[in-house]
Amino acid sequence: MKQLIIINGPNLNLLGKREPEVYGTQTFEEYLEVLKSKFHNVTIDYYQSNIEGELIDKIQEVGFIYDGIILNAAAYTHTSVGIGDAIKAIDTPVVEVHISNTYAREEFRHHSYLSPNAKGVILGFGLKSYDLAVESFLY
Ligand code: DQA
Repeated sequence: MKQLIIINGPNLNLLGKREPEVYGTQTFEEYLEVLKSKFHNVTIDYYQSNIEGELIDKIQEVGFIYDGIILNAAAYTHTSVGIGDAIKAIDTPVVEVHISNTYAREEFRHHSYLSPNAKGVILGFGLKSYDLAVESFLY
C-alpha cells in the first residue's frame, strides 16, 4: 500500500474559519476523513505546523521513507528558501498544492520557492486540489 503524507503550513489549521470566501467553510479534519474514505487503497498521514523549521524537520523525516508528499506550505511557499532546499534534498517526490488560485491573487503569491523542486503543482480547485494530488501519485 502506498504511503502518502499531507503536510500543511501556517494558518491552515484555521480552515473553516479563516477567510471562508477564499478557503471555504470545511475544516481540514472533516475534509481529511472524506479524502481517506475515498482513497482507502492508500495510507494518507497528516501533519500541520505553523513553524517553518518544524515543516522542514517533517519533510526530512518522511522524505526517504514515504512514496509521496503533498505539501501546502501556505505563506512559506512565497518566502522559504529552506523549504525549497528541503524538497531538493529528499528522495520522495513532492506535489505542491494550493487551495486558492495564487496567480489570481496578490503579486507576492505568484512566486513559489517550492515549484522548481516539486514533481508538480496543483492549485485553485479548493480542497479538491488535495484529491487531485493524491490521484497524481496513483497512476
Ligand atoms: C495557500 C495560498 C498562500 O498564498 C496562502 O499564504 C495560504 C494558503 C492556498 O492554499 O491557497 O496560506 O497556500
